[in-house]
Amino acid sequence: MAVLVTGGAGYIGSHMVWRMLDQGEDVVVLDRLSTGFDWAVPAEAELILGDIADQALVEETIARRGIDAIIHFAGSIVVPDSVADPLGYYLNNTVKSRALIESAVRCGVPHFIFSSTAAVYGTPETSPVAEGAALQPESPYGTSKLMTEIMLRDAAAAHDLAYTVLRYFNVAGADPGLRTGQSTKGATHLIKVAAEAATGKRAGMDVFGTDYPTPDGTCIRDYIHVSDLADAHAAALARLRAGGASITANCGYGKGYSVLEVIDAVKRVTGRDFEIRLGERRAGDAVSIVADPALAKAEFGWRPRFDDLDTIVSHAVRWEEHLRVANSGKA
Ligand code: UFG
Repeated sequence: MAVLVTGGAGYIGSHMVWRMLDQGEDVVVLDRLSTGFDWAVPAEAELILGDIADQALVEETIARRGIDAIIHFAGSIVVPDSVADPLGYYLNNTVKSRALIESAVRCGVPHFIFSSTAAVYGTPETSPVAEGAALQPESPYGTSKLMTEIMLRDAAAAHDLAYTVLRYFNVAGADPGLRTGQSTKGATHLIKVAAEAATGKRAGMDVFGTDYPTPDGTCIRDYIHVSDLADAHAAALARLRAGGASITANCGYGKGYSVLEVIDAVKRVTGRDFEIRLGERRAGDAVSIVADPALAKAEFGWRPRFDDLDTIVSHAVRWEEHLRVANSGKA
């Protein structure tokens, strides 16, 4: 019995691989390394270089390794890129997920966990937002993930497959032991960008929009530590294996911070100042997205360990410093 982690060489996926190995699971990673790194995959896991839509490869792997669960992270994740290239996002996130789900069904894989996103809500009408809220994605990224949620729902109704959809809010931070972290080149996510500015990797940073209807005019997000997110997946997997029914749950803390509050936290935690350029709004950004995490806590028994913005920021900055030392060693 083994777990197949797609996108396991990426940021969240590699944390999940470590989390699974920590609990003694056999882990197979499928990743084409378009944005991930082979060094992010621990030697204890088997790394297969390939595409999730390569059904011959996926089905051979499922049979050979006796896969009982697929945890599906692989996909494209940058909201503004999806606005510029919607068809690319529908191919990568929707069409290819369909092929993967079909392989799971054909091979009788009983459990499937899917990385979805708070972007399926668009700008929620209520805050915090619970899972039953209206689904009104405001970007092709959010729509591409919602379509996969719908495919899973319908496939599970027709076949012997139970799924968990986890809707991530804004994931940040790094493994506290610095075994892995967010290493994407040309990163666009706020805490990563601010951590790069604080460690001198970039000369300052931009704030995208200061005229939103929020207390300080900048967008509000619910930032969740990546290790807490990995814990939520582990708990969701245990629940599915115990016979739990298909479910869709938010993964966030239920607290919102503005862009300026996050930047202040990075400056406070590091004691370093950097230039902030107040700029125009970015396409596809929702005003405010904060989770109601009650369902994940009740159904999975999920108990976050790092529910604190300064802790998330300090782990993100420590990882940035780790990367800087590692890269200077290579130079
Ligand atoms: N931002 C800046 N400057 C930057 C980077 C980001 O001002 O250099 C702002 C954005 O405009 C936004 C906020 O910081 O208001 C957060 O932006 P991110 O790019 O960090 O994250 P997003 O909220 O756009 O998207 C993330 C994930 C999605 C997920 C979404 C849910 O990438 O997968 O959170 O809220 F759907």
